[in-house]
Amino acid sequence: MTRVDYPALEASVASLVEGVSDKVARMATITCEVYHADDRFDWVGFYRVTAPETLTIGPYQGGHGCLTIPFSRGVCGAAARTRAVQLVPDVDAFPGHIACASSTRSELVLPVFGADGQVMGVFDLDSDQPAAFTDDDATALAKILKQTFSQRG
Ligand code: SME
Repeated sequence: MTRVDYPALEASVASLVEGVSDKVARMATITCEVYHADDRFDWVGFYRVTAPETLTIGPYQGGHGCLTIPFSRGVCGAAARTRAVQLVPDVDAFPGHIACASSTRSELVLPVFGADGQVMGVFDLDSDQPAAFTDDDATALAKILKQTFSQRG
């Protein structure tokens, strides 16, 4: 199983998005960089808060994602609702998991905060391997998201 060189990934994202404030462009760049960084990742992408309690698909790589997810449903909804990282080693054991792809065995979903501290979306990583994600993945990815979306100015 390959492991991500997170310091290199962080540097690469920072350099690629420098001078580009557009949020979707930033999401697309992170998605591409992360998806290709590790073969554990079979689906990587963002859902954006587009209306109260509503997530809508954003940039992603992998097979088709569900287009809309309410905060009340799935791992993505739980991350948006609770503002907490959801590390799910076995999706079948997660009540209300939304199976966009039947091959998905484990997931990591991180809330994405804007400069105002509000949840602006979630970053969703799915794997076809069980228990594919670790706390180290969550910590490193949360840092990249914070640097990319939460800075004021
Ligand atoms: N599995 C997610 C839904 C999104 S997709 O897998 C791309 C969930 O339960 O939130």
